[in-house]
Amino acid sequence: MKDEHETTWDWHDWAFTLDDQGPYATGGVGADGDRVESPPPELERYEVLRCLGAGSMGTVWLVRDRELMREVALKLGHAPDERTLGQYALEAQISSQLDHPNIPPVYDVGRDGAGRPFMTSKLIRGHEPLKNVIDRLVAGEEDAIASYTFPRRVQIALRIAAALGYAHQRCVVHQDVKPENSLVGAHGEVYLVDWGVANIEALSCSTNQPVQVAGPGLEEVTFRASEIAGTPAYMAPELFKGMRPDALTDQYSFAATLYELLTLRHYLTGAARLEDLAGIATAASTFQPVPPHEVDLGVGPPPPRSLSELCLRGLSKKRADRYPDLDAFYDALQHWIDVRGIGE
Ligand SMILES: Nc1ncnc2c1ncn2[C@@H]1O[C@H](COP(=O)(O)OP(=O)(O)O)[C@@H](O)[C@H]1O
Ligand SMILES: [Mg+2]
Repeated sequence: MKDEHETTWDWHDWAFTLDDQGPYATGGVGADGDRVESPPPELERYEVLRCLGAGSMGTVWLVRDRELMREVALKLGHAPDERTLGQYALEAQISSQLDHPNIPPVYDVGRDGAGRPFMTSKLIRGHEPLKNVIDRLVAGEEDAIASYTFPRRVQIALRIAAALGYAHQRCVVHQDVKPENSLVGAHGEVYLVDWGVANIEALSCSTNQPVQVAGPGLEEVTFRASEIAGTPAYMAPELFKGMRPDALTDQYSFAATLYELLTLRHYLTGAARLEDLAGIATAASTFQPVPPHEVDLGVGPPPPRSLSELCLRGLSKKRADRYPDLDAFYDALQHWIDVRGIGE
C-alpha cells in the first residue's frame, strides 16, 4: 500500500496487529491451532499442556512448572532473532516491575531449545478477552448477556483504567490498549495484558518511581518500538501524523475500548473498514463517532448520556480536550459509578 504515511510507518511489519483478533475470533486457537505458528517449545522446567492464545508478538502456552508444581502462562517469541530478543527483554522488564492487581505478575524469563525468548506469568484461569465477550453479546448469547450487564461492563472499564493509570504513574505507555488485550478471568477478575510494545515515556512523566530498563541493545529496541507499535484501529489520530505515543495516546485507545464496551461496536463503525489502514488513518482524524447514548445496542437500553460524554472526551481528536491524565479519567468514571450506585 502506498500513501503519505509510509515514511513513518512500516505497515507490512505491523499491519498484522489489525487482524490480531485473538484466539476466539478465529474459532479457538487452543482447539484447532489455526493461529499457532510456532511448534510447542521444548523446555526443561516447563511441561507444555496446551495453547492459550496467539498474537503478533508470540504464542501463549499453558505450561506446568515442574519445580513449583503449578500451572503458569508462558509467552514464547516467534523467532530467536535480535529484534524479538530485545522486545521480549523489554516486555519482561517493564511488565515485571508493574505491581498492580489488574496486571498479571511476571514470574520468569528464559529461552527455549531453539533459542526463542519466553516469559512466564500468572495464569489467568478461564480467561476470555473482552473482544470475545463483546462478540458474544452482539450474537445475543444468553450467558454473556447475564454475566456482562451494563454495570458490569462499566466496572470492567474502570479496572482497565486503574491498570493503565498505574502504568502511566510509572512512566510506562502501553501502546496497544484494546479489547483483545483486556482479559476477564473465571472469577471476574480483569487484567490488562500484552506489554509487548509498551515503552518508557519519561518526557511528560514526573514520578520518583519510573520503571527501569537496562541491557544490551535495549535502547535501540526502545527507540524503534516507540516509533511504530500499536494497532491502527485503536490509535489516536496524532500517531498517524508521526507523533510519539504517550499517556494521551493511550487514553484515546482506552476510550475506544470503553466505547466498544458501552456500545458493543467499534467507534469507527460506518467510517472505515478495519482492514483499510489509510481509511482508518483518515477516519481517526476526521470522523465524529456516533455518541454512545445514540447507539442502538440491540441488547438493553443505550448507555446514559452522562457516561457517553465521559467516553467521548477521551476520544477527543484534540489532545487538549482529553482528560489531563488517565487518573482523571478513572476518577470521572468512578464518580459516575458512585453517583449511580452501580458499584459491585
Ligand atoms: N496470563 C495469561 N493467562 C491466560 N491467557 C493469557 C495470558 N496472557 C495471554 N493470554 C492469552 O494469549 C493471548 C495473546 O497474549 P498477548 O500477550 O496479547 O500476546 P501478543 O503480544 O502476541 O498479542 C491473549 O489474548 C490471551 O488469550
Ligand atoms: Mg495481544
